[in-house]
Amino acid sequence: MRKMKKFLAAALALTMVLALAACGSGNSSADTNTASGSAEGKTVVTVATSPDFPPFESLDGSEVVGIEVDILQAITEKLGMEMKLEQMDFESVIPGVQAGKFDIGMSGITITEDRQKNCDFTQPYFLASQAIVVTPDSDITCKADLEGKTVSVQTGTTAEEYCMENGYEVLAFAANNDAAALTSGKAAAWVVDNEVGVALAQQQGLVVLDEAMTSEPYAFAFAKDSALTAQFDEALGELLADGTVAAIFEKYGVLYVAP
Ligand code: ARG
Repeated sequence: MRKMKKFLAAALALTMVLALAACGSGNSSADTNTASGSAEGKTVVTVATSPDFPPFESLDGSEVVGIEVDILQAITEKLGMEMKLEQMDFESVIPGVQAGKFDIGMSGITITEDRQKNCDFTQPYFLASQAIVVTPDSDITCKADLEGKTVSVQTGTTAEEYCMENGYEVLAFAANNDAAALTSGKAAAWVVDNEVGVALAQQQGLVVLDEAMTSEPYAFAFAKDSALTAQFDEALGELLADGTVAAIFEKYGVLYVAP
């Protein structure tokens, strides 16, 4: 009888150990998004970017730097994630994100109705506008003067869309720096987002006209129904509320315009 009791107790203990073990292994949190893990076990998100858009993203040697890099850095830090940047022309950013090749689109992307059909966006964090950039000796002084002139833009941008809709002769370049090369004489003006126009005009001795032509809310893009959108949106909301985003703009010497 005592032997039987001992045997039952041992069997019971064994069952409990097995149950606990099973419970433990079934408990590991599953990765719900397409992002992979880093060496330290952090989730790595891939970020598609066209780093020809200072002060939002540009190259410092081989490193991508800028306002959006800092904002995404602050967001991923909050979320305990790591980011891996993938460089490409702007026209490839949104299609790549849409196709699920990259987790996030970071490229001074304007939220538009058309893009919202193909991508999900965080809330906007800044409000930009399209501006006209000319050479110092240009006879173009306002939007009306663009009539009948050839205007350079970057391919796939809202600037291209705006200029085509307005019936200007459009010369589109895959790289923003080529669109900015007004001294080649191919185009009479360059239409680009205002802050970028200001940054590159300074570098290239060009002039930005004081006429805001559109209203462009910037946000980060994700594939439709990505599980990441809500997490990034919430973290961005916190960074907007606590002044971190405005401080990042200040660090780059750019006047912050809330969306
Ligand atoms: N805001 C404009 C757009 O969404 C231009 C963006 C260009 N971005 C870049 N990184 N070159 O179309």
